[in-house]
Amino acid sequence: MSVIKILIGSTRPHRFGPAFASWIASEAAAYAEANPGSPRFELVDLADLGLPLLDEPIPASMRKYEHEHTKRWSKVVDEADGFLFLVPEYNHGVSGALKNAIDYLFHEWGHKPAAFASYGGGAGGARAVEQLREICGELKVYDLRESVLVPNYWNQLDPNGAFVPDEGQKKAAQAMLAQLAYWTGAMKGPREALAKRA
Ligand SMILES: Cc1cc2nc3c(=O)[nH]c(=O)nc-3n(C[C@H](O)[C@H](O)[C@H](O)COP(=O)(O)O)c2cc1C
Repeated sequence: MSVIKILIGSTRPHRFGPAFASWIASEAAAYAEANPGSPRFELVDLADLGLPLLDEPIPASMRKYEHEHTKRWSKVVDEADGFLFLVPEYNHGVSGALKNAIDYLFHEWGHKPAAFASYGGGAGGARAVEQLREICGELKVYDLRESVLVPNYWNQLDPNGAFVPDEGQKKAAQAMLAQLAYWTGAMKGPREALAKRA
């Protein structure tokens, strides 16, 4: 069975990332239940990986890792068939934590589809997602159009800090998950052939 990893793209204390992830994971579970044969969804929190600032002496494209933290992270990404990036916007771009985690690896990302669910102030993380799409090109990650974008998320929190989506956001999430699930399955076979040509 294919696996889609949902990556929480922030690590700072008191971040919103996990609350957002909790909602997206519930949408993913609902999608998988309604669609037999759907890929499995797994949540990955960058904060649990304990990655320091990139400290591998050899570029990731050589895939010769020295550190255990890199080998652990490599396995997490290698085992994925597709990705759902949860993207906060930091200074009109990708968070340092997410970019750092991405830069640790190269081949593990390749020829896999990715979708984006973002959040932030007025732009809802859109600028960070656009930056991430450029990065995906270099990594041979196939970025999908369908996305979820949540502006000013703090207006949609319940008293416990849980995210309360509106109908449009739920619909956007299901449309995004449907595309991601389809392409994750469809790319699994061709990926092996493409990787051999690289
Ligand atoms: C360093 C930093 C820079 C930020 N810059 C922006 C920004 O350019 N645009 C925006 O919409 N929100 C910005 N924000 C607000 C974040 O989107 C908001 O704090 C969000 O909760 C960050 O995600 P996190 O809580 O998961 O870390 C910034 C936050 C931080 C910490």
